[in-house]
Amino acid sequence: MKHIRTQVGIIGAGPAGLTLAHWLKQQGISSVIIEHRSREYVEARVRAGLLEQNTVDILERLGLADRLKKEGKLHHGVYLSFDGERIRVPFGELTGGRNITIYGQQEVVKDLTNAWLAAGETLLFEAPATQIVDFEGDAPTIHFTHEGEEGIISCDFVAACDGFHGLGRKSMPKDSFKEFSVTYPYAWLGILANVAPSSEELIYAYHERGFALHSLRSDTVSRLYIQVDLDEKEENWPDERIWDELSIRLGTPGWELKRGPIFEKSFTPMRSYFIDNMQSGRLFLVGDAAHIVPPTGGKGLNLAVADVKHLVDGLVAFYGKGDQTVLDKYSETALKRIWRAQDFSNFMTTLFHKSDTHGSFTYQLQKAKFDYIKISKAYATTLAENYVGLPFEQFS
Ligand code: PHB
Repeated sequence: MKHIRTQVGIIGAGPAGLTLAHWLKQQGISSVIIEHRSREYVEARVRAGLLEQNTVDILERLGLADRLKKEGKLHHGVYLSFDGERIRVPFGELTGGRNITIYGQQEVVKDLTNAWLAAGETLLFEAPATQIVDFEGDAPTIHFTHEGEEGIISCDFVAACDGFHGLGRKSMPKDSFKEFSVTYPYAWLGILANVAPSSEELIYAYHERGFALHSLRSDTVSRLYIQVDLDEKEENWPDERIWDELSIRLGTPGWELKRGPIFEKSFTPMRSYFIDNMQSGRLFLVGDAAHIVPPTGGKGLNLAVADVKHLVDGLVAFYGKGDQTVLDKYSETALKRIWRAQDFSNFMTTLFHKSDTHGSFTYQLQKAKFDYIKISKAYATTLAENYVGLPFEQFS
C-alpha cells in the first residue's frame, strides 16, 4: 500500500491540475497529482489551442511560458465570414490592447508536465482514483491504484481536475448541485494538416453548407474544423471532400485555401454543460469536471485556468491567514465567469452554425447579428472583449 501525505491532492494532469499544482507550489503549498491515463495519451490528446491573455499572463508569472512565448502565435484580431463576406474584428483598439495566443493545449500540458517532474514533484500516471473519502471533514483521502498496488493520498483538500467523466463530480452529494445541459444538433470534424496556414488570423464562417473554422498551430501546420452531422462517420470524409468543403465554406473573393496532407482527424460533439455548485466540504471541482462549453468561443482551457485562480486565492487565504471565507465562495466566484463564458460560447456557436434552413427566421437573426457587428463598435467590442477574456477584476 502506497501512502502519500500532501496538502492538496489533485486528480487529473490536464491543464487545470497542472496549473493548480505549479501555482500552489509557488505559494509554498504542497500537492501531488494522480492521472488516470498514460503520459503518452495525455500529451498526445489533441484539443483546442486558444489561450486568453489571462491564461498567458498566469503561465508567464509561473515561469512556464518560455516555449509558449517562442512558438505561440499572438493574434491581434479575428476574421468573421458570413455567406462569403469577410470582416475583421481588431482586438487591440476594442479591448485596450488585450490579445489571444494560439498554442496547442497539448503543448501546454507537455511544458507543465516537464517542469513539474523536473522539479522532482510527484505525478503518477496510469493511477486512476477509485474513491474520494471523508471530504466533509478536515482529513479527506483519495484512494487510487498504481502499478497493481492500492494507494492513498491523505490531504487537507481534494481538487478534482479530472474532466467531464471523472470521479470528482460523481462523488459530490447528488442534492448539492443542479445540472444544466444543452446538446447541439451537430458536431465538428477537426483536422490537422501539414500545410502553411492560409490566413494569419482565425476565420469563423457561416455558410449555407454549415460552419467552418480556420485555425493554425505553426508556420507549417494548419488546424481546421467543419460542421458535420452528429452521427457522421469518418469514412464519409476522405481528405479531398474535407478540403473541398472547407474551401467553399471559408471562401471569399480573392482568397484561396491551401491544401496539404492531413495527419489527424477527429469528431467533437457540441455541448454546453454546467452545474451550479462546484464544491462540497473540502472537495473542489475544477475545469471540465464542472463545466463544458462548445469549442466555438475557445473558452474551455481558459475557464479551467480561471477556476484554478479562484481556488488558489482560497487556499492561499486559508493557509496564509486561516481565513476560509474565500474558499467558501469558490463556486460563487467561479460561476460568474462560467455563466458569461456559457453565454458567449452559445452566442458564437449559434451565430455561425447552420441549424435551420438557409433563409429561415433563425438564419435572418444570424445575419442581422453579423451585419450589426459590421456597423456597431459597441457590438464588435462585446464580441472582442469576451473573446480575448474579461479581466479577473471584473468578476470578483
Ligand atoms: C483551435 O485552434 O483548435 C481552436 C481555435 C479557436 C476555437 C476552437 C479551436 O474557437
